[in-house]
This record gives sequence, C-alpha cells and structure tokens, in this order.
Amino acid sequence: MSPGKTLLRVENLSVRARLGGRIFYIVEQTSFSLRRGEVLGLVGESGSGKSVTCRALLRLLPGANLELAEGKVIFDGRDFTAMAEPEIRAERGASIGMIFQNPASHLDPVMSIGEQVAESIVLHRGVSRAEGWSQTVDLLRQVGIPDPARRARQYAHEFSGGMKQRAMIAAALACDPQLLIADEPTTALDVTVQAQILRLLLDLRDKRGLSIILVTHDLGVVAQSCDSIAVMYGGRIVERGPKRDVLKAPYHPYTARLIACQPAHGAGSGLLPSIPGQPPSAGDMPPGCRFHPRCDLARPSCREDVPALVRRAASHLAACPVTAEMEP
Ligand SMILES: Nc1ncnc2c1ncn2[C@@H]1O[C@H](COP(=O)(O)OP(=O)(O)OP(=O)(O)O)[C@@H](O)[C@H]1O
Ligand SMILES: [Mg+2]
Repeated sequence: MSPGKTLLRVENLSVRARLGGRIFYIVEQTSFSLRRGEVLGLVGESGSGKSVTCRALLRLLPGANLELAEGKVIFDGRDFTAMAEPEIRAERGASIGMIFQNPASHLDPVMSIGEQVAESIVLHRGVSRAEGWSQTVDLLRQVGIPDPARRARQYAHEFSGGMKQRAMIAAALACDPQLLIADEPTTALDVTVQAQILRLLLDLRDKRGLSIILVTHDLGVVAQSCDSIAVMYGGRIVERGPKRDVLKAPYHPYTARLIACQPAHGAGSGLLPSIPGQPPSAGDMPPGCRFHPRCDLARPSCREDVPALVRRAASHLAACPVTAEMEP
C-alpha cells in the first residue's frame, strides 16, 4: 500500500495521575504519527500505558484523577488538546472510532445491537431512523455478521464473543471515521476468530483508507497486520519504526527481548511471553531508563539518565544510548 498523508501527529503527550496526595506520570512524552491508511501496532506489557495513551488521544481518560499534562494531538490539522469539551465530543464519534478493551462491557445489555449502532448513525450521519436502521443492517453485514436483519434485533447476550467484537467494530464505524483505535480487539477470542477479525480490519483499511491504531500483546498479530510498530515500556515509547525494521533489527533491548521470547512462528498464538523481572508500576518508576533493572546491557548511567528517543535509521527510533554506541 502506498503511504498516504499524515493524519495524526502526537507530540510529547504526557498524562499525569493524582493519587493519595502524590502526583506521577503514567504516560510520558509520547510522540508518534500516523499516515492515512497506515496500521500502527502499539505493543508492550500490561500496565505500560497503551490504553491510557489511546484514550488520551480522545481526551477520554479513564479516571477523574488523570489529566493531560502536556503535549499536542494534531488530527487532520486540528489540535484536539486545544479544543473545548463540546468540540472534542463531536470529534470523538465523527473522526475517530474507538473499540475499547473488554468490548462486552461497552455494549448496552438492554438495547438491541442494531439500536446501538443505529443511534450513532442517526446522530452522526443526520439520517432518518428508518434510513439509520437500513444502514445499520448494511454495516453489520459488512463486518461479517450473518443474517444481519435478524441479528440486529438481538441483544448482546445472544451474541458470541467474536460476534460481539464485530458488533463493536460496526458501532465504531457507524460515523465513518478516518481513524479506528482498536484496543486489544482480539485478545479474548480464539485463534480462528482472531484471524477473521484482523482480516476484517485490514479489509476496512483497504476499502475505506481507514488508519488504525491496533493495541496488542501479540507480536504475531503485529507481524501479520501492521505497517509500523511502537513499543511502550513504563509509560514511554522506547522504540518505533516500520514493522519490518523493528522486528528484524530492534535497537532497544526491551524490544529484542520481546521478540526473542516470542514462540517461533507462533503468529496469533497468544500473550506476550514473560521476560525475567517485573514491569515497573505507575507511581513507582525506577529512575533513569525504566527498563534498566531488567536489562543485561545496563550500565551506571542508565540508572540516572532518562534516554531520549533518537533516530537510528530512516524512520526507526529507539531510546537506548548503549546500543547506539555498539553500532559500527
Ligand atoms: N485512574 C488511574 N489512576 C492511577 N493510575 C492509573 C489510572 N488508570 C490507569 N492507571 C495506571 O496507568 C498505567 C497504564 O495503564 P494502561 O491501562 O494504559 O495499561 P495497558 O498498557 O493498557 O495495560 P493492559 O495491557 O493490561 O491493558 C497502569 O500502571 C495503571 O495502573
Ligand atoms: Mg490496556
């Protein structure tokens, strides 16, 4: 696929938490960009800040104790961080669709699946209820729900996990967004259904030129589906670049560990394998490089200096001064 124009630019985005009289960062100085039609894989261990980053883009932070501390989110030329609340609310449905982690808990149990999708279509596309319903059935068909006219009248409990996930995708697409943020859209599903959902997302990219941020624990999924990858550790992006380059020749020891731990050719086979030691928790980050306590290459300065993300090859960046020195 030929690269499109830049759709999203995230600059130095930081999210701050207040908890028990303390203030700490849970996402720090995150920067990346996304072109039209690009699929970016956001990976990292549990608690690394993937979901908070995604939600911060839409200013939908998961807690009243969280706030955007700094940074910019420039979407299609508009700065989301500078918008008033009603403006950003309009953007949420219209420009960016979001599939939240744990989709089942985001479906309303007392409203039919069709009504939930139709509500959003009527609101965002400004069509009549009848037209909204017919577009809903059409959309459910597009996301691979069989017999959509009948299934639209059913409720979430009548849908299997994979079908609920498809319904969530339909709901996220109801407003015809330019960007879809999919937070672990396949994690709870079995391998076959997982593959079908990924295929569906890529089809949507091909047909609609949709850009996608795909949050996943699974490097196999990244290898299959993404154009580029951003690796998060302890609330920071430690490496990013074209998928092929990052997976073939990672510059950050954490990325290298993730890849080395991945079962060979285990595409789509499950969760991130374990790396010795524990990931740091928000509010209790080690000083310096967040990864240094678990890093074989760490030297004294790694315990003090927070490494900057620097360009190592064309569009491949990493935050590790040690491997930078090791290069020929
Ligand atoms: N409201 C909050 N107050 C304080 N800390 C929070 C709050 N919400 C999230 N966190 C912390 O922020 C960190 C990042 O959370 P986030 O949900 O983004 O992780 P994640 O990478 O999506 O993990 P997972 O893979 O498990 O979904 C975690 O350590 C989490 O405990
Ligand atoms: Mg998450």
